[in-house]
Amino acid sequence: MLIFSIETSCDETAIAIVKAKKNKNYNFRVLANVVLSQIKDHAKFGGVVPNLSARLHLENIIPCVDNAFKKAKILPKQIDLITVTRGPGLIPALLIGTQTAKIFSYLWQKPLVGIHHIEGHIYANFIKNKISAIFNLPVGRQISNSQFPILCLVVSGGHTQLVLMKKHLNYKIIGETLDDAVGEAFDKTARILGLGYPGGPAISQFAAKWKSEIPNSQPKAGLLQRRMNIGLKHLAGKFQIKFPRPMINSKDFNFSFSGLKTAVLYTVQKNKKLLKNEKFIQSISYEFQQSAIDVLISKTIKAARKYNPKIIMLAGGVSANKELRKQLNETVKKSLHGVKYIMPDIKYSTDNSVMIAVAGYYRWQNMSKLQRKKAFDNWKRLKASANLKL
Ligand code: KG4
Ligand code: ZN
Repeated sequence: MLIFSIETSCDETAIAIVKAKKNKNYNFRVLANVVLSQIKDHAKFGGVVPNLSARLHLENIIPCVDNAFKKAKILPKQIDLITVTRGPGLIPALLIGTQTAKIFSYLWQKPLVGIHHIEGHIYANFIKNKISAIFNLPVGRQISNSQFPILCLVVSGGHTQLVLMKKHLNYKIIGETLDDAVGEAFDKTARILGLGYPGGPAISQFAAKWKSEIPNSQPKAGLLQRRMNIGLKHLAGKFQIKFPRPMINSKDFNFSFSGLKTAVLYTVQKNKKLLKNEKFIQSISYEFQQSAIDVLISKTIKAARKYNPKIIMLAGGVSANKELRKQLNETVKKSLHGVKYIMPDIKYSTDNSVMIAVAGYYRWQNMSKLQRKKAFDNWKRLKASANLKL
């Protein structure tokens, strides 16, 4: 089955063409994965401007579609299913993607299925990664129906949730953020530190530099290294920065990240001159990131002890964070006997349309004959929704 897919919920115009094969479970071959990012256009405003994003989606969407068909080397008439992100997201941006999908559905006379953006992020975990299968890495796996329940930690720019799945396409939110999403906290912290937008990748790079220079992390230091370490120890002492781990001891599975961002703000306001010092930026990035990771992992493990999942998964743009990927994997192995861990391939962690196609395929498989028939004139009914619930 060939799926043509559109995602325009925020600042990426994403088009994919995916071939799905029913092969024991499901197998997906990505024929085209076009992602045109608008980051540079929004960066000067310090965040995404909804109307600008719509204007850019409108300019770029047809060239992206053309590019995808050229890459996939197929023709529109070969497509079997159209999938599109219906929400949540920025309404001006969503309208461009949904309207384009509706036009193609009408013109090509193909069924159309609308997908929840977070459902897409969750299903990015099921895109098999051949290399990881050979080396038995926990990246992108096919799973069977017997491997439920699954507990999924969703971490993106708009969401931070713990989602329990008892079966495919079935979601129970057992905890979520009471204020900022964790990706939003990364972005706001980066803005406070003057690192630009989006903040996640920049913060994680500065944090990695600090980690690699923490004196204790270098076991056998030579003379030169020891001298450097003494210097760094001095610096580490100078920047003895400690941020809170918000709600880490609360009994529920909810999160809060706005206090963490405020703690960063106060520290920076007290030490404005140090903003020119890269070591200061590195140490704040490291401590902020570790604080967020500690809370995310602690709540996930606590929820796993209550709900006994067979698999723990990670989803959403912040799942591209290497430390979170590594530390969650290590903690699941150490603390939860017999529980598997899966995370999406980094190239499908942040917004893309392959994940929307994969989720759409599972939805299509789950539909009755009548529902499938109705999907052919879904171009009359499908509506974008900014606050769509999972
Ligand atoms: O899922 P996504 O691409 O868009 C939304 O659905 O929101 O997530 C974007 C978020 C941004 O807040 C961005 O800063 C964050 O994911 N992000 C990261 C990293 N890469 C992207 N956060 C931490 N570390 C990263 N490496
Ligand atoms: Zn996303």
